[in-house]
Amino acid sequence: MPVSSIAQQVQSLREDAQKALESANSLEELNVFSTKFIGKKSPIQAIFKELKNFSAEEKKELGPLINTLRDEVQLSFETKKEQMTQAELNEKLKQDWIDVTKEYPTKQGSQHPISRIQKIVEDVFTSMGFMIADGPELETEWNNFDALNIPPTHPARDMQDTFFVSTGEVDTNKNSVLRTHTSNLQIRSLKEHGAPLRVIAPGRVFRNEALDATHDAIFYQVEGVVVDKGISLAHLKGVIEVMLNKIFGKKIKMRIRPGYFPFVEPGLEIDIWWEYKDKKGETQGKWLEFMGAGMMHPNVLKNCGIDSTEYSGFAFGFGLTRLAMMKYGIEDIRLLFDQKKEFLEQF
Ligand code: PHE
Repeated sequence: MPVSSIAQQVQSLREDAQKALESANSLEELNVFSTKFIGKKSPIQAIFKELKNFSAEEKKELGPLINTLRDEVQLSFETKKEQMTQAELNEKLKQDWIDVTKEYPTKQGSQHPISRIQKIVEDVFTSMGFMIADGPELETEWNNFDALNIPPTHPARDMQDTFFVSTGEVDTNKNSVLRTHTSNLQIRSLKEHGAPLRVIAPGRVFRNEALDATHDAIFYQVEGVVVDKGISLAHLKGVIEVMLNKIFGKKIKMRIRPGYFPFVEPGLEIDIWWEYKDKKGETQGKWLEFMGAGMMHPNVLKNCGIDSTEYSGFAFGFGLTRLAMMKYGIEDIRLLFDQKKEFLEQF
């Protein structure tokens, strides 16, 4: 075969390949092209095989011709394959696209009323420079009672009121209790941070109580403590007034009476004037017990390593559950915890 015929074959193969490549319109057709023009049985390979029949001189001339053809076909195949893969991907992305901003008819969750009111209370107190503390629900008898000046014979320790968790030890102070109030945080916070201190501690407390519309064995309280030089009941009154007015968004009337708690001296009960509509739709009002409070007992300060001749402080504790019920007009405490969707959806 003459050299010129090989050169001709190369040229017509180049044209065939170009045409075939142009008309390949899918990745499958491209694969067919590749087996036909690039594979082992392709005409290009056949021409390579024929080279052995030519002289060294002729091979020098023909070799580069065929090599160039092979490289050209390979390159244009790859370029086209790349383009088509990209185009197919784009097409797929277009089809799979979803509008993430579109509103779907799903139900929004909501915050439990206790969580909502807790956040409001925390915001009010942090705005007054209080820190927020957290403590364990399973507490030593010492932190829950003794350190708070509640002697072992106090009725609050009676099995009627408290859930004791026995470790089997004879020494009752090594036993634990489910905390009966958040006042354990008076002890824990003062011991941890010392004076001066401004702290609130919201949390869950436990009492061995029968369940009815206003009592549950599990409920939430918030403890507050301020210790500094020269703290007096006037500070307590001011702080509680700010809190109530901010939470209810209006001026709340309050009444302070003497009350007894072993860990405060003097001890106070603070009531608030609560207005509501009766069945006839007329506005009625009554005093509601809202919180226990008072000046911290020197024994409590001493138990936390604070010098009571240098520092004084007040403490208060109120029911967060109660506050939620007042704020949101919930009449039965049981509604809060029996997980009814219809009730919770209102918040
Ligand atoms: N711990 C008391 C209770 O649970 C409330 C209280 C807290 C009273 C702080 C005085 C001071 O009833």
